[in-house]
Amino acid sequence: MNTLYIKPAVTRGHISKNIQGHFSEHLGRCIYGGLYVGENSEIPNVNGMRKAAVDALRAIRIPVLRWPGGCFADEYHWKDGIGPKETRKRMVNTHWGGVTEDNSFGTHEFMELCRQLGCDPYVNGNVGSGTVQEMSEWVEYITFDGVSPMADLRRQNGHEEAWKLPYFGVGNENWGCGGNMTAEYYANEYRRYQTYVRQYRSDSKVYKVACGSNGGDFEWTDVLMKQAGWCMDGLSLHYYTVPHDWDHKGAALGFSREDYQITLEKALEIDRLITRHSAIMDQYDPERRVGLIVDEWGTWYDVEPGTNPGFLYQQNSMRDAMVAALTLNIFNQHCERVHMANLAQLVNVLQSLILTEGPRMLLTPTYYVFKLFQHHQENELLLSEMKTDGEKSSVPAVQASASVDQRGVIHVTLVNPGLDDAQEVKIDLSGRKAQDVTGSILTGAMDAHNTFDAPEQVHNAPFEGIALSEAGLSVTLPPVSVVHLGIRLHD
Ligand code: AHR
Repeated sequence: MNTLYIKPAVTRGHISKNIQGHFSEHLGRCIYGGLYVGENSEIPNVNGMRKAAVDALRAIRIPVLRWPGGCFADEYHWKDGIGPKETRKRMVNTHWGGVTEDNSFGTHEFMELCRQLGCDPYVNGNVGSGTVQEMSEWVEYITFDGVSPMADLRRQNGHEEAWKLPYFGVGNENWGCGGNMTAEYYANEYRRYQTYVRQYRSDSKVYKVACGSNGGDFEWTDVLMKQAGWCMDGLSLHYYTVPHDWDHKGAALGFSREDYQITLEKALEIDRLITRHSAIMDQYDPERRVGLIVDEWGTWYDVEPGTNPGFLYQQNSMRDAMVAALTLNIFNQHCERVHMANLAQLVNVLQSLILTEGPRMLLTPTYYVFKLFQHHQENELLLSEMKTDGEKSSVPAVQASASVDQRGVIHVTLVNPGLDDAQEVKIDLSGRKAQDVTGSILTGAMDAHNTFDAPEQVHNAPFEGIALSEAGLSVTLPPVSVVHLGIRLHD
């Protein structure tokens, strides 16, 4: 038996909608052929953006989208991606498959995609192979409304008004693909580059994100906070769930029960990482002004057989849904420090929400988790604790987070990652009584997934396992399930 104790009167921080953010890189078929099919495509599109994908993503209210990388960001030169498409420079995407990048998707197209999605843009600048001037001019091009060389160039390219640029990353993985720098060297570079990321708009500040640690590199966080904490708004963290090792990561489908268990154990590791990075940040920033921005996370498996190894295309099953749900609950619990997170990546790359094949498209189990979790966006986190009888294990029998929205409705997301047993959870509301409860569920076998021929195998459904009586509220969660509850309390 499990009991979830919720204190409806005790809030513990604001859950930024950006915790449910996403990432789209010029990698494989994420942008080209995925989100962007081009204006002349037979695939239904609006200004080149795949309409079905935009519609599906609007339905889960994606809040923020990171672009153009990733490792690609530190070899991207933004001026190659503006102006008439016929004359845009071609380059080799050396990092991802050595394919030709024709730059037909650039700054204007990304801003148009964000407009259609109704989300905020998060642009990642180039420190590794770009100059301070180039980065500075990109910000001027995007955000400056007056008369200046870059603002004039933007107008010449058809966009009269300046855009808002709410989030800007100053380099990516500069400890690795972004220039193989030491923490001390990058901290200095960050200080220099960010100086010229000017605040041109009085109505919209650019939030500057410094490149943070690779998983458990706590020294990196310490150095960055010590030397540059004062001039950053956010510090990133990248953590991928790789079931085995980087040479043999494991397959996305056809995995064993043991692989399932290992994957979830590794996903849960992010809780410990956030706790330790936050503790270091607390030493320099006790007010928690600087956000921990987990701008790359998710599962990383071997690519699907027969696909380009540089394209990172993998299928997505209920195992991924479990990773997503456990992780999003963890982010909620750390919302005081985690101000944004971006799943890698939105379409056709790593742990995707959407897979496409020519004109065909499917929504993955991970997509349906975000659909359940969207109810937490911009809520206040509630103090809650799960108590479980019986032995503790490396993967909890059941895990949850709870929040309250502006109307006073309590939202709870519960995960039963177990493969065999249903879990009953009594919900203790600290003396308050539930008036009515609604619920939705995502459940299936551990490797259940959608295919282009059977795209509706896995999806959310109304949740029937709610027992509400004078005695109180309890729910029964089937194995391998995620549930969202909306609880209205009696006055
Ligand atoms: O998401 C794929 C890659 O993983 C990104 O380009 C890079 O930042 C990370 O190593």
